[in-house]
Amino acid sequence: AQAPVNVTVTGAAGAIGYALLFRIASGQLLGADTPVRLRLLEIPQAVKAAEGTAMELDDCAFPLLAGVDITDNAKQAFDGVNVALLVGARPRSKGMERGDLLEANGGIFKPQGEAINAGAASDVKVLVVGNPANTNALIAQQHAPDVPAERFTAMTRLDHNRALSQLATKLGVAVTDISKMSIWGNHSATQYPDLFHAQVNGRSAAEQVDHAWLEETFIPTVAKRGAAIIEARGASSAASAANAAVDHVYDWVHGTDDWTSAGVVSDGSYGVPEGLISSFPVVARDGKYEIVQGLDIDEFSRARIDASVRELSEERDAVAKLGLV
Ligand code: NAI
Repeated sequence: AQAPVNVTVTGAAGAIGYALLFRIASGQLLGADTPVRLRLLEIPQAVKAAEGTAMELDDCAFPLLAGVDITDNAKQAFDGVNVALLVGARPRSKGMERGDLLEANGGIFKPQGEAINAGAASDVKVLVVGNPANTNALIAQQHAPDVPAERFTAMTRLDHNRALSQLATKLGVAVTDISKMSIWGNHSATQYPDLFHAQVNGRSAAEQVDHAWLEETFIPTVAKRGAAIIEARGASSAASAANAAVDHVYDWVHGTDDWTSAGVVSDGSYGVPEGLISSFPVVARDGKYEIVQGLDIDEFSRARIDASVRELSEERDAVAKLGLV
């Protein structure tokens, strides 16, 4: 039998953690043939809650679950880790400036990057979910110099899935009729969901919707969907975020036919400064996410991508000033 894969989840006692852990343990993250050993990292005050979740995991008697360890120590949590899901982050509290938020998260993602550098397995794959996801991923990556930079990714798959769903509903088609969807830039309100490369049944999506809908409804609906969910359910999107994390890792490991979206380290493609962790259209091949190359970018898309990438550069400058990258 295959040896268990070590999967570490930070913020395991949080809302996304609760929606995510059972899907990992059931085999949906890595496939139905792959046993997993879970490591849950929490802050000391939340370890007890994580232990409660672990009791429920036991009670599912998952055939693929080889064990659950719980710790508040990052070094222990990432020792031997193969897949690291960095979900726990510091939310913005009332009156908190953006610089304070970036600094508070630097205090989480710097030591976690160092712990990954020190102890992770040589094949480690890291997905950062906790916001601001792109810049948190950059901070962790910068403190893991011995890990190939491409192993650090940030989650824009939820935005991608939201874009698929909105477009499918608009055109009355199935999500499976859509291909080549992509999200560019930052996982924030400036993100750019791109219908100019997307296709519906093999024809340009942008040509099948009117431009006013694309600009005034589609883009803001996708970008502000998180706020709309909070408004409706009185709590943030946790199950759909967990689902997107599962999709991101499953595709990374198993490969894709179609494009998907992920925040990956820029190699300078499409004018995105090298080293920034930005969302791009990507495909997964041989255990690697690769940026789709050679696309023509129209003027409308160019302006949107540039604006979101500018925001990423500003976030990088802000954390550089704090000595975090
Ligand atoms: P939550 O507040 O319910 O849970 C966060 C958990 O992280 C808490 O249990 C907290 O104790 C833990 N935590 C805080 N600092 C930690 C540390 N240093 N080490 C380990 N654990 C730590 O939040 P929720 O709803 O689970 O969301 C988690 C993050 O995911 C948030 O930052 C949220 O903004 C982000 N998110 C990102 C999305 C994306 O598309 N990239 C989508 C949805 C949420």
